[in-house]
Amino acid sequence: MTETSDGLHVRRPVPSDHQRVLAVLDDWWSGSQGAAGSHQRAHLLPRLFFEHFTDTSYLVEGPDGEVLGFLIGFLSPAHPRLGYIHFVGVSPAARRRGIAAHLYRLFTEHAVRRGVRELRCITSPGNALSVAFHTGLGFEVDPGDRLVDDVAVQGDYDGPGVDRITFTHRLVTPLAPSATGETDLRTLLRSLSPLLHPGRYVYTVVHGAMPAGVKPVVLVREAEGLTLVVPREQADALGLTYTYVAAWITLGVHSALEAVGVTAAVSGALAAAGISANVTAGFAHDHVFVPYERAADAMRTLSAVAAGPCT
Ligand SMILES: CC(C)(COP(=O)(O)OP(=O)(O)OC[C@H]1O[C@@H](n2cnc3c(N)ncnc32)[C@H](O)[C@@H]1OP(=O)(O)O)[C@@H](O)C(=O)NCCC(=O)NCCS
Repeated sequence: MTETSDGLHVRRPVPSDHQRVLAVLDDWWSGSQGAAGSHQRAHLLPRLFFEHFTDTSYLVEGPDGEVLGFLIGFLSPAHPRLGYIHFVGVSPAARRRGIAAHLYRLFTEHAVRRGVRELRCITSPGNALSVAFHTGLGFEVDPGDRLVDDVAVQGDYDGPGVDRITFTHRLVTPLAPSATGETDLRTLLRSLSPLLHPGRYVYTVVHGAMPAGVKPVVLVREAEGLTLVVPREQADALGLTYTYVAAWITLGVHSALEAVGVTAAVSGALAAAGISANVTAGFAHDHVFVPYERAADAMRTLSAVAAGPCT
């Protein structure tokens, strides 16, 4: 596997990576919960994950081959529509460069291709970094039986005294059996199912050929140049210029291209909330790009559109 983010090498883990990852855990988790925490983390990452779960896991290496990040995930054998992220970590020296978001994106793309519609993961109470990261990516904290630092916690989730925060991220709804898509506006709005993709996306314009290594999620050819919407890390890695940094929301409902009124309803609701929106239609879904810092507001607004009366 040769995917790169920010010039880093991303590949599937192999069994010999197990010890290398164990060796960094305490440092990366800042020795959280002392010896007991260290013991627990090592037990949560047995070698089997580096042997039998490698097609849904990722390892990031720096220029000198040092481990800079990892994600261990799997598709639930019992629930085929569920993807589970078991463990994620990024070296303190490489944080806030979008590495974890990139790994979540790779996992999500893989999972969605295999029919997954929901992502889940858990974290320990008090891990504010993990809560900030997951909610920043669009995960929601599941209800709990008490609050710790204002976050819902489920007591005894993993055994007596082992409390956890659990997260869920609902992905796009499956395409309707009809290849033509839904046309009724009321039905469309009720089943809008907005999905907030992990990470930040930027609009950039290139002239001439598309630069190697760019994987745009939107491409528009105009006389003035080629407009690309790409993950910000790709633009940064290639030195592409941009000003608008967006969050990408996909409307999970399968709307027909000839459906009337969805774009107006969506952009109208966002405009009423003071959120600018760039809407693009694919064959199956509509996609909305909103200012990154308004992503949570936009998701709330779109959920309200889906829940509200359609007149
Ligand atoms: C949580 C962790 C994996 C995030 O890795 P990362 O590569 O730094 O995260 P990213 O750069 O991809 O961040 C993506 C988004 O998450 C949010 N985020 C990440 N770190 C954050 C922080 N310290 N404070 C607030 N928000 C944060 C932001 O929204 C960020 O986007 P932005 O940088 O564009 O604002 C990393 O901090 C880590 O390894 N922590 C220790 C291990 C751990 O707790 N793992 C999770 C539980 S298993």
